[in-house]
Amino acid sequence: MDYNVAVIPGDGIGPEIVREACRVLDAVGTKYGHGFHYTQVLMGGASIDATGVPLTDEALATAKASDSVLLGAVGGKVGESSWYELPPNLRPEAGLLSIRKGLGLFCNLRPALLFPQLKNACPLKDEIIGEGFDFVVVRELTGGVYFGERKTVTEGGVRRAIDTMPYDENEIRRIARWAFEVAMKRGKRVVSVDKANVLDTSRLWRQVVAETAMEYPEVALSDMLVDNAAMQIVRDPKQFDVVLTENMFGDILSDEASMVTGSIGMLASASLGAGKLGLYEPSHGSAPDIAGQDKANPIATILSAAMMLRYSFDLVQEADAVEAAVSQVLDAGYRTVDIMSEGCKLIGTKEMGEQIAKRI
Ligand code: IPM
Ligand code: MG
Repeated sequence: MDYNVAVIPGDGIGPEIVREACRVLDAVGTKYGHGFHYTQVLMGGASIDATGVPLTDEALATAKASDSVLLGAVGGKVGESSWYELPPNLRPEAGLLSIRKGLGLFCNLRPALLFPQLKNACPLKDEIIGEGFDFVVVRELTGGVYFGERKTVTEGGVRRAIDTMPYDENEIRRIARWAFEVAMKRGKRVVSVDKANVLDTSRLWRQVVAETAMEYPEVALSDMLVDNAAMQIVRDPKQFDVVLTENMFGDILSDEASMVTGSIGMLASASLGAGKLGLYEPSHGSAPDIAGQDKANPIATILSAAMMLRYSFDLVQEADAVEAAVSQVLDAGYRTVDIMSEGCKLIGTKEMGEQIAKRI
């Protein structure tokens, strides 16, 4: 089969890590007889530099017309890059929010899986890690405080900023369904994370999630407050199977989840909507401080490409092959600097991509 993939290298380490993910996809194409055709799309700072805006209508249209989108990362250093002198709606991150919204990608899956080979890179104690852990954060991606009305005003000489956090029951129900569907294919346990002791949106969230749970009698649902969830992820990550949560809580908890897997450089992500088109990107950022130095870990992006094969193209065997190749490379002792430990072989971004591609 032929697949059209819109590729957004973005900023910072984005171009380097995306290059390696495409190398791995090409190896999959050769082995299994698929053609992956890439169309480069500008977004983030790269788009601002070329067009003045972080995402043009044409770029969004190209993404929409593709079978799927592969993204590196966007953004630079706040305070250093001139992109951050622009109004907020013209900064690099606004491009990311616009493409998620524009493609209707309301569901963000972020698997937190500890590869046994990376136990040493995990900051948790052995007794906490036990046999390892494997959970997935299901994050609502196009609602809540990220998309609510906001403004900054000066009243009586005092500067005041307001962000609002709206959710309606339909937005909650559709993401809850996703979480229950994912749970049905995994351990059949959903922990729904909110702040229902304070927020109205969380109280509605809790009710709607409980109502949706009736459609999935086989799945065990429990609720957890977000502050407690942040603690439980480091206290006992094994307890989780599917973690369902709203946009900002999911952003924060998924970074925490990635760290307990050893490195933020390992965590893939898939953003999905009603159809087959998805946006696949590592959960980490653009790491401008190490950009262009062949130091970045491309594994999160490569595992994101595996999620693309699985969720957008239904190429299960091929997705398994990519994940197995990553595991074999770790078995062989190859490490980028973020996951390096004693006795392993330190390699760069490009060699990591090559080592994985040749094991497909
Ligand atoms: C992420 C990132 C983005 C988010 C930023 C760059 C807007 O942190 O994908 O987790 O918060 O969604
Ligand atoms: Mg984040």
